[in-house]
Amino acid sequence: MAQKLAFRSLRSIQCRILHQSHVRRTFLFASEAGSPLVRSLFASLTLLVVAMAVPVAAAQKIQLSVDVSKPGAKIDRNIFGQFAEHLGHGVYEGIWVGPDSKIPNTRGIRNDVVAALKALKVPDVRWPGGCFADEYHWRKGIGPQRTVTLNPNWGGVLEPNTFGTHELMDFLDQIGAEAYLSVNVGSGTPQEAAEWLEYLTTAQPTTLAKERSANGHPAPYRIAFLGIGNESWDCGGNMTPDYYLSQLKTYSRFVRNFNPAQQDNQQMLKIAVGPGGGESRWIEWTEAVMKAYQSHTWSWDMNGLSMHSYTVVKWPPSYASVGFGETEYAQILKSTLEMNELVAKHSAIMDKYDPKKKVALVVDEWGGWYAPLPGSIPGFLVQQNSLRDAILAALNLNIFAQHADRVRMANIAQMINVLQAMILTDKEKMVLTPTYHVYKMYVPFQDATFVPVTIDAGTYTHDGITLPRIAAIAAKDKAGKLSLAITNVDPNRPAEIEISLAGVNAKSAAGEMLTASKVDSVNTFDAPNTVVPKPVSAKAQDGKLTFKLEPKSVTVILVDQ
Ligand code: AHR
Repeated sequence: MAQKLAFRSLRSIQCRILHQSHVRRTFLFASEAGSPLVRSLFASLTLLVVAMAVPVAAAQKIQLSVDVSKPGAKIDRNIFGQFAEHLGHGVYEGIWVGPDSKIPNTRGIRNDVVAALKALKVPDVRWPGGCFADEYHWRKGIGPQRTVTLNPNWGGVLEPNTFGTHELMDFLDQIGAEAYLSVNVGSGTPQEAAEWLEYLTTAQPTTLAKERSANGHPAPYRIAFLGIGNESWDCGGNMTPDYYLSQLKTYSRFVRNFNPAQQDNQQMLKIAVGPGGGESRWIEWTEAVMKAYQSHTWSWDMNGLSMHSYTVVKWPPSYASVGFGETEYAQILKSTLEMNELVAKHSAIMDKYDPKKKVALVVDEWGGWYAPLPGSIPGFLVQQNSLRDAILAALNLNIFAQHADRVRMANIAQMINVLQAMILTDKEKMVLTPTYHVYKMYVPFQDATFVPVTIDAGTYTHDGITLPRIAAIAAKDKAGKLSLAITNVDPNRPAEIEISLAGVNAKSAAGEMLTASKVDSVNTFDAPNTVVPKPVSAKAQDGKLTFKLEPKSVTVILVDQ
C-alpha cells in the first residue's frame, strides 16, 4: 500500500514535470527535426564555420573585459544554499548515522560530512522538504520517544523521526548554516506551525519553551527563513492561487518568531510558494501572489517568492547521469540555460508589483534530475554526478548572480545522496562530487559585489544544438579583491582568454580549474579524484591576464592587485 501511495505520488510529480517540460521538449524537437533542406544547409554552414574558425581560433585570443567601475548588486551568499529533504539517504545515512554508529559522528551526525560541508560555507539549509514537508508533524521528531511514521512520497519507507528539530539545529550549528524551515501547510494547521516556532524561538518560560529546555536547549533557536508551504499547487495540496493566498496570509500572521534577537534586525524572512515553471498557470500564480503582496496590510507580509525549476528535458527522467555522450551533454546544458528566461519572466512580473525589489525570488529547488541509477530504489532519486553537472551548476550560479538584485537565495536539490548532490555516501565511505567542487571554488562570490563582464566568444554547436561557448561572471569582495568564474562549455576546443581589467592594476591571478577527460567523468568511492580542481595561475602583461581554459571546464581565479 505504502509502495502504491509512493508510486502514485511520484507519478503526480512526474506528470507535472512532464507538463512543465513539454514546452522545452517541443522547442528542442523542433530544432532537431528541421526539413532536409534546412538540415543540409545547417550542416554546410557548420562545416564552413568550423573550417574558418580553426586557424582563426588558433591565432586569436578571446577578449574578456571586466569593468569594476560599474558594480552591480550584492551576490547574496544565500544563493549557495542547500536543500535536505527526508528522501532516500539524504538525511538518514547522509547526515544522520546515530550516536551508536561505528561511523565517526558527533551526537549522531557524520563528522566527514560536516567537515566537507564546512569547507563550502553553506549559508542555509532548507528542511524537511519538499513534498515531505507538507506531511511532516514536528512533535513526532522531538523528545526521548520518537513516533515511527511513513514517508509515502519517497518509497513508502518507515520514517523513524530520529532526525528531528534538535538534530537539525545541531547539524546546522556544526556546519555553520542558517535554518530554512518549510512548514506544513498541506496537512498541518497554522496552530501546529505557530507552536513549532514558539517551541523553537521563545525566550519566555512558556510550557513549550520548558519542553525545549528539557529536550536539551534552554536558549531560543535562531530561525532565519520560513517557507510557507511547498509546491502548494501540486504535492503541497493542489491549491488554487486564491486558496493558497488565504493560507499564506494566515500563516504569515500567526507563525511568529519570538527570538528576542530577531525582532528588529535579522528578522525571520517569510517565503511564499511561487511558480514551478514558465507556463501560463505559473504566470497566473506569480501574478496573484505578487498582486496580493502589493496591497498587503500590516497584518501579513512576505519577503520571498519561491521558484522551482529542475533540468529534466525528458520525463520520466530518462537521461542517464553517467555513461552518456556529447549529444546528451549539449541537450542538458541547453535546457539548464532556460533558467535565465524563467528568472527574467518571473522577475518582470515581480517588478510590476514590487518595483523596489523588496521580495526576493528564491530558487529553492533546482538542479539536474536524471534517471535513477540502475538497481537503486526509484523513489530515492539516486543519481551520479558528472563533470556535466559541475558545468550545469556553474551556469546556474552565474545566472543567479546576474540576477542578484532579485534572486537573493537558491537551494540546490539536494545536498547529499539525492538528485544533484554535493556528497555521496555509502556506509562509512564518502565521495565529493564535481558539483561540490564548483560550490567550493565559488566561495569567494558569497556576498561579493557583482561586476559586469563583456565577452564575445562565439558559440559551441553539436547535433543542431548551439550554446554560448564561454560563460563568465566577476565580483569584488568587501576587501576589493576581484574574482572571476569562467566556464568553457565547449567539450572539444580549449579557449585562450585575454582578460582586461579596467580600473584594476592586476599583477597576477591564481585559482583552480575543474575538468576531466570526458563529459560524463564522475568521482566514485574507488576513484574519488577523477574530477577535482587543479591549480592555475598567470602573470599580467600590459595589465592583461591570459589563461588557457581546457575544454569542458570551470575556472575560478582571484586577481592580485
Ligand atoms: O526534490 C524532490 C521533489 O521535487 C521535492 O520534494 C518537491 O518539492 C519537488 O517536486
